[in-house]
Amino acid sequence: MNFELKTLSLAAAASHKCDLLVLLVPEGLAPQADALSQLVASAIKDGDLETKPGKQLSLYAPHGIAARRVVLLGCGKGGAHAVRQAVQALGATLKSAAIKRAALVFCMEPEVGAVGAAVRAMADASYVYTATKPKAEPRALSRVTVGVADAAAARAEFATAAALVTGIEYARDWANRPANHATPTLIGDAAKALARHAGIQCKLHGPAQVAKWGMGAFLAVAQGSDQPLRFIELRYDGAPRTQAPVVLVGKGITFDTGGISLKPAAEMDEMKFDMGGAASVLGVFRALAELRPAVNVVGLIPACENMPDGRAVKPGDVVTSMSGQTIEILNTDAEGRLVLCDALTYAARFKPQALIDIATLTGACVVALGALRSGLFASDDELAARLQAAGDAALDPCWRMPLDDDYADGLKSNFADVANVAGRAGGAITAAKFLQRFVGDLPWAHLDIAGTAWKGGAAKGATGRPVGLLLHYLLDVAATSGSRRKAAAPRRARAV
Ligand code: BES
Ligand code: MN
Ligand code: ZN
Repeated sequence: MNFELKTLSLAAAASHKCDLLVLLVPEGLAPQADALSQLVASAIKDGDLETKPGKQLSLYAPHGIAARRVVLLGCGKGGAHAVRQAVQALGATLKSAAIKRAALVFCMEPEVGAVGAAVRAMADASYVYTATKPKAEPRALSRVTVGVADAAAARAEFATAAALVTGIEYARDWANRPANHATPTLIGDAAKALARHAGIQCKLHGPAQVAKWGMGAFLAVAQGSDQPLRFIELRYDGAPRTQAPVVLVGKGITFDTGGISLKPAAEMDEMKFDMGGAASVLGVFRALAELRPAVNVVGLIPACENMPDGRAVKPGDVVTSMSGQTIEILNTDAEGRLVLCDALTYAARFKPQALIDIATLTGACVVALGALRSGLFASDDELAARLQAAGDAALDPCWRMPLDDDYADGLKSNFADVANVAGRAGGAITAAKFLQRFVGDLPWAHLDIAGTAWKGGAAKGATGRPVGLLLHYLLDVAATSGSRRKAAAPRRARAV
């Protein structure tokens, strides 16, 4: 989908030709003399339009206005959150086949973050998954004009959001694909395809290389599947080589049956989303390719299936991780931490300034935080604060959880250095404590996105989270790391 940003007064918006014109109407709007402003003013005065976020009044082919349809859309105080809520209320309208060109015009000076929120919400509301629905109507909406009083002032925020949309949709497309259309091999191919963009490189490693590295934990998970594992290594170089990279590690379980510790049948299909962390890393790289910020990023994805099989790893098996620590696999369904621990050990070779893993790791995190905030665990307060702020700015929030050492007590094993599960209590935290054993002293953060990466029920589908959080964090690093060289492309990104 194409976005454009335009300076557009309400008087000019009246003659803007499109299939749908949406006017964002805030509380306490002072009406101007033009026809659209008068229309808005009388609709409010007559009680036909409220300005609470999402309240709306639809008009068809109004006289003297070039747009076929006009929606007057309340947006409360006009902040990013309210604008998103308002656009979300348009619902299926943006999926209508009749609406190919839309314009969204701010009736007021937009608040910081509001233009970005509008762009992202328009994309979100019109997204259609088609990869395995060849007969489905593709997205009809192809062009969205965002109209503001001063386009120059909103330019950076707009560019960030448009790139972010590309990344989020890439992540959603891959996470939504069923497991037989998103095998470790195909995820590897998708990563390789990203390397066609300038600034991005990709290396793919198979089982032989992974065995040579001694990634016994990753191998143990993969050994029950006929699909060969992939270890994906992406690089984005936007800053001088002397600048330490941020390393992102994404859990890439393309299907999680639980293994021999088999999951119950209900909703097991949703375990195709268990590569949501990996998809978010792919999405971040897709967005980096668009924005070209001055930062170095490494993306690591351990990708495999977790299957029950004659060769599958069994409860009680002890394996040796790349770090040399032995692990007693008490529950084969706690596989995410096993593939991640070897990738975290591998990450040390990049001497990262920050190491961040992203994983649909625990059902316990869904119980703790629901679908609103991702779980954030961090060994470093500054990194935690920056990720939390990035999440807030991106409307992709997270919440910090504790990492007291005593939480690791339950991971003790009589037969190995560590067990892969503790008791049921505090399951999201004990999973994080397991991972922490493999990161040494590096500034590390872990995002548990089990509750946020996808939605179940009628709206079942991937959300593209936390691509927004991660991209905003990387733009913050780019803006503050004092690189001597400027970004490769002129569009200077700014947090929205
Ligand atoms: N992929 C799951 C986590 C998950 C479960 C995410 C449900 C979203 C919804 C993970 O591999 C898993 O199975 N975790 C177990 C860990 C347990 C065995 C300690 C869990 O959360 O039940
Ligand atoms: Mn599992
Ligand atoms: Zn899993």
